[in-house]
Amino acid sequence: MLTKPEDYYDAETFARIKKFADQKETPCLVVDSQLFTRQLDELMTCFPYAKTYYAVKANPAPELLSILRDKGCNFDVASRYELDKVMALGVTGDRVSYGNTIKKAKDIRYFFERGVTLFATDSEADLRNIAKAAPGARVFVRILTEGAQTADWPLSRKFGCQTDMALDLCILARDLGLVPYGISFHVGSQQREIGVWDSAIAKVKWIFERLEEEDGIKLKMVNLGGGFPASYISRTNDLQTYAAEITRYLKEDFDDNFPEIILEPGRSLAANAGILVSEVVLISRKTRFGLHRWVFTDIGKFGGFIETTDEAIKYPLYVEKKGETEECVIAGPTCDSADILYEQYKYHLPLNLASGDRLYWFSTGAYTTTYSAIEFNGFPPLQGYVI
Ligand SMILES: Cc1ncc(COP(=O)(O)O)c(C=O)c1O
Repeated sequence: MLTKPEDYYDAETFARIKKFADQKETPCLVVDSQLFTRQLDELMTCFPYAKTYYAVKANPAPELLSILRDKGCNFDVASRYELDKVMALGVTGDRVSYGNTIKKAKDIRYFFERGVTLFATDSEADLRNIAKAAPGARVFVRILTEGAQTADWPLSRKFGCQTDMALDLCILARDLGLVPYGISFHVGSQQREIGVWDSAIAKVKWIFERLEEEDGIKLKMVNLGGGFPASYISRTNDLQTYAAEITRYLKEDFDDNFPEIILEPGRSLAANAGILVSEVVLISRKTRFGLHRWVFTDIGKFGGFIETTDEAIKYPLYVEKKGETEECVIAGPTCDSADILYEQYKYHLPLNLASGDRLYWFSTGAYTTTYSAIEFNGFPPLQGYVI
């Protein structure tokens, strides 16, 4: 079945984005600031008790960062370059957390000198670097969680540590003169199974209790990470359902004595607000009687669609032409055979689709411009606009 714009956007919003894109060369990403603001307002309404730390990596367009700044949000920053971007907009260090557990000692110092006092960690080596470069700072320890199988873009294994190690790190933090401030986790991006927050929060609660009872350390904060849904082809529950369930888990574990709760949304705020427009370069078949066409378009894995790796994220795809359709393989424009977007999952596209026709990729506002290569095959990075 062909994707319909009205399944993802109201008519006025789609018309506004399309009209703007019509004047632009492809490929380009057009992000609608009203839609972004709507997503942000919804999140803040759903979690009225939580502080939002936007994951800048999802889409660092200054126009979006300014909206977040003006709404009083905070920023989850992964590198000194992201920090510079955020601070250039007048955001002060006390609204930033250095959320990357993999960092150089000199970068920790860079953050600390600019007023950042909240740092993620998951290893002793990093903690010792923080103690030296950011004396007295607050640290939160990231734990490993379940959920890799039900997240479209899992973030497990590389980040986080076992609960026992989290205890050790909190104790070491105190001994090194840091403030053991809280526990964080990320259940995986585009997480479809809300229940994984339940087990993660239960682990956190256990750590809180153990540390208070046995070591006199009173943690203050729980960072629930990202993982909230965007609207792709595969269904998810809506954000209200996520919020209601997660709030219930928190109440079950913490009663009404909630610690400070932090969210780090990226995808759920930026994805739906953007439409990436590409153009068909060529259409071909590989054999005389091949059953499906190959549609080559001017956006590929290296132009920003890295999350099509293993066909993990399936973006809704709209074309204006109607009529009989056929299954297609969709591939990017570069001279690399890894640059195939979808081969197992077959998109249906109209038989009359032709070179030069435009493809509208919905919900592409997150993790596209930032992933785009700078010069692979000479193609420039993906052009992003905010309207
Ligand atoms: C530390 C951290 N926080 C938050 C996010 C954002 O997650 P999401 O895009 O699922 O909202 C990420 C994504 O990589 C992350 O690494």
